[in-house]
Order: sequence, then structure tokens, then C-alpha cells
Amino acid sequence: MNCWEFFCRIRRSVWFVFFDTYIGRLTQILLLDKRKGAMTVAKVYVFDHPLIQHKLTYIRDKHTGTKEFRELVDEVATLMAFEITRDMTLEDITIETPVSETKSKVLSGKKLGIIPILRAGIGMVDGVLKLIPAAKVGHIGLYRDPETLLPVEYYVKLPSDVEEREFIVVDPMLATGGSAIAAIHSLKSRGAKHIKFMCLIAAPEGVAAVEQAHPDVDIYIAALDEKLNEHGYIVPGLGDAGDRLFGTK
Ligand code: PRP
Ligand code: URA
Repeated sequence: MNCWEFFCRIRRSVWFVFFDTYIGRLTQILLLDKRKGAMTVAKVYVFDHPLIQHKLTYIRDKHTGTKEFRELVDEVATLMAFEITRDMTLEDITIETPVSETKSKVLSGKKLGIIPILRAGIGMVDGVLKLIPAAKVGHIGLYRDPETLLPVEYYVKLPSDVEEREFIVVDPMLATGGSAIAAIHSLKSRGAKHIKFMCLIAAPEGVAAVEQAHPDVDIYIAALDEKLNEHGYIVPGLGDAGDRLFGTK
């Protein structure tokens, strides 16, 4: 190798080191941008917690049976709820420990309501209730017409104090976005003002549709998948969430 070739090789290595550092820096910036344990992209939070990602792998796996699927969905819902409730407001109260009087924090502010979109959303309710046992639970029944893929509403029952509550709408799947949009619309038309939407797996099409229809609603996702297929299923997704939860196929 002559001097020039040696110089070129060194220069290339230096460039790669610089490039590597630059990419590393970018990754760092993205990681630093993680707000509350979730990566923010506008108002969409994609959870990257290893426990959530690990459990999601087995939720997706077609060899996972109904019992395990149900348990895993429940566990992931709890983990997600832990992050989603991070912005709950606190107030000081005075208590007495066995040693002294002290000020300590308790939850204040709006009470919570959980709204599963039937059927599959039911699978996430208990997981959220484990952390917020006093939350009220409303139900919105929607199914997706297999031909048009449009949501059909068949049941709505909400807590009576809708206007005062903050709601978390839960559904494992956000595909075209039709069901989430309709459920949120249904809630708003009955007076709800503070709504978050939480799902396990979302397609980019669904996220964009919900963001556009309800820009005031934050979306929390365990995984943002690649696309929808021609049947409106999320790819790679997990298949039909309702059927897998309830063993109906
Ligand atoms: C599934 C899922 C969502 C909806 C998502 O429900 O649980 O509610 O599809 O699809 P979208 O974003 O395109 O509206 P499904 O309609 O299969 O009803 P089910 O829960 O009763 O099975
Ligand atoms: N509903 C599901 O259950 N799964 C999908 O992939 C899309 C909609």
C-alpha cells in the first residue's frame, strides 16, 4: 500500500467514525426526546419499554393460545397505563407518620373513566383497573363491517358524569382508525372533553386518520406497524384481536 492509499483508508475510517458518532448523536437526541418513557412524534407516543416489547412479541405470535394471549394483553395494558397516567395531578395533604407530621402527595384533579371499544377493548380494562381501581368503566360497542370496513355502533353506556372525567379509550387495534374515530366522536357528543386513546398495535393509516379527526386526543401505542393489507388488517399485526382474546375462531 502506498502513502496515498494509506491516507485514503485513514480518511475513510475517520469519516466512518464521524458518521457513526453523528448517527449515535441522532439516536441520543431521539432518546433524550423520550417524554415520560415514550417517544414523542407530535401527539403520538410509541412505547419502547423492553417489557412491553417483549410481551408484544408473544401477543403477536400465532402459536400463543387464548389464555396466554389474554394474560399478556392484560399485562401490557397495565404497563401502558403506568406511563399514560404520568401526567396526573397531585396535591399535598398533611399526614402523620409514626415519627412526625409531614406533607405528602395524593392524586387530585379529574377522575378517570376507561372506555373499552367492544369487543376487544374489554381485554385491556382489568389491566388499567389494576392501577386505577376507582376508575369508572363505560362501554362503546362497535364492529367493523367486513365489506365497507366502516364502524357500526351498537351499544353505548357511559358514566353519568361524562363532562367531569378524563377518559382513556382502549382497543388493542388501530387499523383504518374508523372505530377509534367513531368511539371518540361518540364520547365527545355526550360531553367528554378530555380523552386519550390507547392501543397495542397501530397502522400508520389509522394513526393519521385519528390525528386528523381528533387532533386534541393523544394516542398511546405499544407498536407502530408497517401498513394495512387489502382486508384492512394490520401487517404484521396480531390477527383478529377479538377472536384471539375470546377464542371465537
Ligand atoms: C377490531 C378492533 C378495533 C377495530 C379496528 O374490532 O378491536 O375495534 O377492529 O379497526 P379499524 O381501526 O379499521 O376500525 P372488530 O371490528 O373486529 O370487532 P370485535 O372487537 O367485536 O371483534
Ligand atoms: N382489527 C383486528 O382485530 N385486527 C386488525 O389487524 C385490524 C382490525
